[in-house]
Amino acid sequence: MEYRIKTVGVLTSGGDSPGMNAAVRAVTRAAIYNNIRVKAIYRGYKGLILGEVKEFTTQDVSNIIQRGGTIIKSARSQEFMTPEGRQKAYETIQREEIDALIVIGGNGTFAGGLAFSQEFNVPVIGLPGTIDNDLWGTDMTIGYDTSMNTIMDCVDKLKDTATSHERVFFVEVMGHDAGFLALNSAIAAGAEAAIIPERRTQEEQLLEYIGNGFRKSKNSSIVIVSERLAEGGAEALAQKLKEIHPEYDVRVSILGHLQRGGSPTAADRILASRLGVAAIQALLEEQRSIMVGVKNDEIVYVPLIKTITEHKDVKPDKVKALHILAI
Ligand code: F6P
Repeated sequence: MEYRIKTVGVLTSGGDSPGMNAAVRAVTRAAIYNNIRVKAIYRGYKGLILGEVKEFTTQDVSNIIQRGGTIIKSARSQEFMTPEGRQKAYETIQREEIDALIVIGGNGTFAGGLAFSQEFNVPVIGLPGTIDNDLWGTDMTIGYDTSMNTIMDCVDKLKDTATSHERVFFVEVMGHDAGFLALNSAIAAGAEAAIIPERRTQEEQLLEYIGNGFRKSKNSSIVIVSERLAEGGAEALAQKLKEIHPEYDVRVSILGHLQRGGSPTAADRILASRLGVAAIQALLEEQRSIMVGVKNDEIVYVPLIKTITEHKDVKPDKVKALHILAI
């Protein structure tokens, strides 16, 4: 007899990202279009363990495409990292008669989804939802473009005050061990430098930057720093610069969680909508344990294991461009 998915579960997990709602809407509507029932699982894997499930109709996802965050909530579940936690989650899957799961999130979400699909033979499809853009196999993740634009807007404002007071600003951004947000927002905002995890230590990068004579032609400057708590981040770099150049007026701005909020950009809404539809298509094609991503504007299926074990690198030409344009 032909195997057919009748009910799909959808959840958002890990750090939320703008566009997750657009993805939930697309999954819901594409499933219903294909006569598949949709059950939304609240609070990610935590809700899967606790059985926080609600069947969605197309109306449940009305008027959410423009909203940041995730209407079905998100969480990071320690319990799901354990076999006992996943066993409880499987009991919910059985009770709710869910045949497949679509998980929207980043590295941790995919690692959990992969373990679950292997242990219980449940098809799991991942949608890349993280502002960090650090998943291998997709050019963009849902939320990254919005976050980058938010950082750019903040830096535009900081530049006004930096110029007026002739100050050096260290602006710390998120990224979770990846420099995509820092490097690309630095280019977009016309910053003088980006200090990113992909290139040596933060202090070495700062010294290189100072060595380049960064105040040759300018009285103010903006340095975007990718978060890296082990090395002290923007605060530590500001201290170091003050030691070397006590005459400089230095300030730090840590953008924090505002980078995760806000209405998604058109690019994120379109990406999320395409990927949501493609996730249902992948299930119809009997795919399992894959991420649906986008490469060169084409939908791609990437084994989940590869998305979390392979390393996605920043583009060297961007590092060079930023350096050249900062003269
Ligand atoms: O992965 C998304 C992210 O925003 C990272 O950039 C950041 O390091 C982390 O989540 C922050 O997590 P939390 O919301 O738990 O503080």
